[in-house]
Amino acid sequence: MNLVSKDISEDFPKSDKIYLNNASVSLMPLQSIEAMKEFLISYNSIGPDSKDSEPFISEKLSNVRKIISKIISCQSDEVVLTQSTTDGINIVANGLSFNDKSNIIIRGMGHEHHANFYPWINLKDKTSIKNLTIDDNGFFNLDDLESFIDDNTKLVALSHALYNTGSILPVKEIGKILQDKIPFFIDSAQTIGCIGEIDVSEIKCNFMSFNGSKWLCGPMGTGLFYCNKKSSKLLEPKTIGGESAIINHDSNFAFKELPDKFQTGFRNYVGIVGLEASVRYMVKFGMKNIHKKNQYLSNLFREELLKIPNIILYGPENPNDRTSIVSFNIKGLDSQKIVDKLEKQNIVLAVREIMEKKIVRASPHFFNTESEILQVIDAIKKL
Ligand SMILES: Cc1ncc(COP(=O)(O)O)c(C=O)c1O
Repeated sequence: MNLVSKDISEDFPKSDKIYLNNASVSLMPLQSIEAMKEFLISYNSIGPDSKDSEPFISEKLSNVRKIISKIISCQSDEVVLTQSTTDGINIVANGLSFNDKSNIIIRGMGHEHHANFYPWINLKDKTSIKNLTIDDNGFFNLDDLESFIDDNTKLVALSHALYNTGSILPVKEIGKILQDKIPFFIDSAQTIGCIGEIDVSEIKCNFMSFNGSKWLCGPMGTGLFYCNKKSSKLLEPKTIGGESAIINHDSNFAFKELPDKFQTGFRNYVGIVGLEASVRYMVKFGMKNIHKKNQYLSNLFREELLKIPNIILYGPENPNDRTSIVSFNIKGLDSQKIVDKLEKQNIVLAVREIMEKKIVRASPHFFNTESEILQVIDAIKKL
């Protein structure tokens, strides 16, 4: 059977809701919930901090790093385990060194997710900040980027895909422009797990941050930070803990190598086990198949929406330029009211914003079905 049309809703907890808010937090497969339960039982039987628990835990950490490194094509010790996308962004923002001539380049100010905006703005007393001008979908002119770069540019920081319009930025072309000379940070919270495998060496980015609870279908409190080995020396850790450094007899600290350098204390072991199980499930389905299914569902959603009068649709038309996010408004209706009314009918969408404008955001993932999309369309028609 064609995997893309296969109904896999049975692999997820039963629900009477149609859940289309996966760009915020996704559902977890039953096997991941089971893996977490089994882990907690074994971990407690072994003795959570006993001699036997050490190899048990290191195996779990190594497994999750290995599987994440496969889907983003890096080495497994370049995968730092954090709690969130925001954690990784802050590791970079607070870890870089600046001088009075430094500048960093960011995109779109109020058109960016706050988590990938505030940590950069917070640097305003340490470095100048150049902001790329964007169009309605959040894209910017690559010539503008080239003209912004100078010998004092310390970083270019962008989202891979945008949380509001779903636009996918041309990160490979951008990587080519930066050519390993200017450090490149990507917030990939909205792409990893949604648009197929991503190769960090092809993109030529130095740092990337994402989480486990969005498109990777893992539990909350799991984050992943990719730090290129050579680029790790550009970042001075701003949090220090028992796990990340060693102190010698002169009371001097030495940071450990990657990935420990940025991991200051115990990790969220149970979350990591759940995440590994989720990614394993997704890899079995096939990252490419997930991408195809997501494109199919979002294209269907957009096509059907366009048949409804008074719909305003946002985001690029070309399916290769967007994730499965479908953002829209209905002329004359308030976005929050639309979402509230649908929620009363057990349909979960979200309100987000493009600058000051509120929009309705639907974000289907591969476990959603064609029939769910059509039911949501039907409910929207009746509003
Ligand atoms: C583009 C982007 N960056 C960062 C975040 C924040 O992610 P986290 O909660 O993992 O820090 C989000 C969450 O929606 C996002 O869409």
